[in-house]
Amino acid sequence: MLQPIFEAVREDFEAVDALIIESLNSDIPLVEEISAYIIKAGGKRLRPLLVLLAARASGYKGSEHIKLAVIIEFLHTAMLLHDDVVDNSTLRRGRATANATWGNAASVLVGDFLHSRAFEMMVEIGNLDVMALLSKATNGIAEGEVQQLMYLRDPEITEAIYHEVIYRKTALLFEVAAHSGSVLADAPTATARALNHFGKHLGIAFQLMDDLLDYDGTTCDLGKNIGDDLAEGKMTLPLIVALRQGSEQDGALIRSAINSPGTTDALPAILKAVDTSGGLQYTLDQALAQRSLALNALSTLSDSPFKHALSQLIEFSVNRQT
Ligand code: IPE
Ligand code: IPE
Ligand code: MG
Ligand code: MG
Ligand code: MG
Repeated sequence: MLQPIFEAVREDFEAVDALIIESLNSDIPLVEEISAYIIKAGGKRLRPLLVLLAARASGYKGSEHIKLAVIIEFLHTAMLLHDDVVDNSTLRRGRATANATWGNAASVLVGDFLHSRAFEMMVEIGNLDVMALLSKATNGIAEGEVQQLMYLRDPEITEAIYHEVIYRKTALLFEVAAHSGSVLADAPTATARALNHFGKHLGIAFQLMDDLLDYDGTTCDLGKNIGDDLAEGKMTLPLIVALRQGSEQDGALIRSAINSPGTTDALPAILKAVDTSGGLQYTLDQALAQRSLALNALSTLSDSPFKHALSQLIEFSVNRQT
């Protein structure tokens, strides 16, 4: 399903892949080993794709968007290395996480390496507007992760706070990927703003689906363990709705599971509760509403194969199993 989207920027994307590998070089063998381990495991590469499409849809004719795409993928990968430590996750991209293989310290430090390599490459681009956008976004993402931590094991988290968290921790990177691609192209403000909004709504939809798939997906398709959010004590939207709309018995079960992290005994019963309470449907409906907002933002751009590919990207995001 992603293949036709990649086709729109195939040559650019090949250059991105080559630059990713080239940019992982380090004098320290363990840095190269761990960063290559996670990067070569694949991943969907949605964020660099978004950079390329946004730049091209904004009429960009240069080649710095390749580097910008790599920067965004490195920021994302650095966050995944940190995220799996924080979330105690053991499976990512279909293989053991770096923390499960090399331990937490190595994962955090190599995450820092990728993060700072991204900033080195930003300096190479030398566009202060792009740098301002990226530094502000990475700062906001860190705040989102801390905000989420504050609500860990808290069954009373509101839907509004949940939305703030997912906007910061996930949608900000999608937003800045699309926005900075457009700014790099020196696009008119209206175009840059439209792409900013597109990225934001795409990112929110993406995390809503991620939270849905953590209950409704399969480990095989996702390449990560389902039920991780519950095991971690993290209240996401399907669970927030199940607590609000489900039976008293379901509510007691959810509160107790959220308070005893690490245990998965309650998972089968809770899977049932998020479904029968309408939690899964509610989350899907919200993702579809974000899809409409994303498509509205996109409709203001002039037609091009890149705009078309962007619309397919949002369709993929709300229909994905992976
Ligand atoms: C995982 O993102 C982190 C979230 C924001 C949910 P992806 O699902 O895009 O991860 P990869 O890069 O494809 O592995
Ligand atoms: C993703 O949140 C946010 C970031 C990686 C910053 P999750 O913790 O839900 O991501 P997965 O499910 O582990 O990929
Ligand atoms: Mg995680
Ligand atoms: Mg997390
Ligand atoms: Mg998740």
